[in-house]
Amino acid sequence: MDISTSDTSTLDMSTLGRLAELWQRGKDFLGVEHAILGGAMSWVSERNLVAAISNAGGFGVIACGSMTPDLLEDEITATKAMTSKPFAVNLITMHPMISELIDVCLRQKISHVVLAGGIPAAADIKRIKEGGAKVICFAPALILAKKLIRSGADALVIEGSEAGGHIGPVSTSVLAQEILPHIKDVPVFVAGGIGRGDVMASYLEMGASGVQLGTLFVCATESIAHENFKKAFLRGNSRDAITSIQLDPRFPVIPVRALKNKASESFLEAQRSVIAKHQAGHMDMKEAQLEIEHYWAGALRRAAIDGDVDGGSLMAGQIVGLVKTQQSTQEIIDGLVKQAHDYLSDNLSDYLSVN
Ligand SMILES: Cc1cc2nc3c(=O)[nH]c(=O)nc-3n(C[C@H](O)[C@H](O)[C@H](O)COP(=O)(O)O)c2cc1C
Repeated sequence: MDISTSDTSTLDMSTLGRLAELWQRGKDFLGVEHAILGGAMSWVSERNLVAAISNAGGFGVIACGSMTPDLLEDEITATKAMTSKPFAVNLITMHPMISELIDVCLRQKISHVVLAGGIPAAADIKRIKEGGAKVICFAPALILAKKLIRSGADALVIEGSEAGGHIGPVSTSVLAQEILPHIKDVPVFVAGGIGRGDVMASYLEMGASGVQLGTLFVCATESIAHENFKKAFLRGNSRDAITSIQLDPRFPVIPVRALKNKASESFLEAQRSVIAKHQAGHMDMKEAQLEIEHYWAGALRRAAIDGDVDGGSLMAGQIVGLVKTQQSTQEIIDGLVKQAHDYLSDNLSDYLSVN
């Protein structure tokens, strides 16, 4: 993305006012200047990027991923040393130590906890809220959005299949139409495929309280992602960010969106070989399934941190095609805000010229 650096102080007050009005609820909920969440990205969303996003007026989210409670404690402490602004922690609900990780967040007085990777237990939501933090959950369908609100979720993220990483089957634009008109009780943040401020503003006009972006922040200068990983993003086109392919319905593959590379091609070969071994009676169903699941173990770290862009996983959303330069987090966020402003001011002048 090459967004010309903007100085939001020069923006027209009437449209700045319109933007402020559109995402006021999201800003109040998060306690930030711009209702833009930096979606948690395992290995990438650590102290440097999280603090940079929060310091730039957005809302950083630490990706706990598979961290132990001790590591999470250290990461939170280190992030607090780099920003006095609010940020959240993203916990994966199926983490075997979820309860201890919640304890760490509450002890550290984290203001917002994001629960990802499945529908969270109502008991976990309750405990986090009783501990004083707000809970943000992912809603993959309207019926689940309503259930999560009944379970006490304070806000929802709806994330479409354009997004990078683990994804659901439905696109952002369809989810937005299905969910935004019907959920008014809590703020809703839209994620997946957002790379410009005009699309961000249009989701706000549809009723979203803010947005969540991941892919666009990977190449931020403050991001610790390996240079090879960043180069793959800078080169990548939207059509290169594909979902993992499942060869046989008996052996489910978790859908993950990533840039195609040698590892994603040999994943097909690996599945073929495991399925052949199963069919020949050399491997039972369970062993075969485990071997397929283990193929990607540690793969994001290998690519994002070690720089092995052939053998690791290049998790990226389709919007990767708009990532064209490395920019500071501040430039990325200011650029989005300026584009949202321009979009809203064009709409305002069109409206005034015909009325
Ligand atoms: C490299 C990468 C790693 C991710 N890891 C996680 C994760 O650990 N937990 C999570 O809830 N979402 C994860 N996501 C999803 C992001 O938080 C965010 O919702 C998503 O990137 C938004 O869509 P976009 O990529 O189109 O901006 C990841 C995304 C990427 C690109």
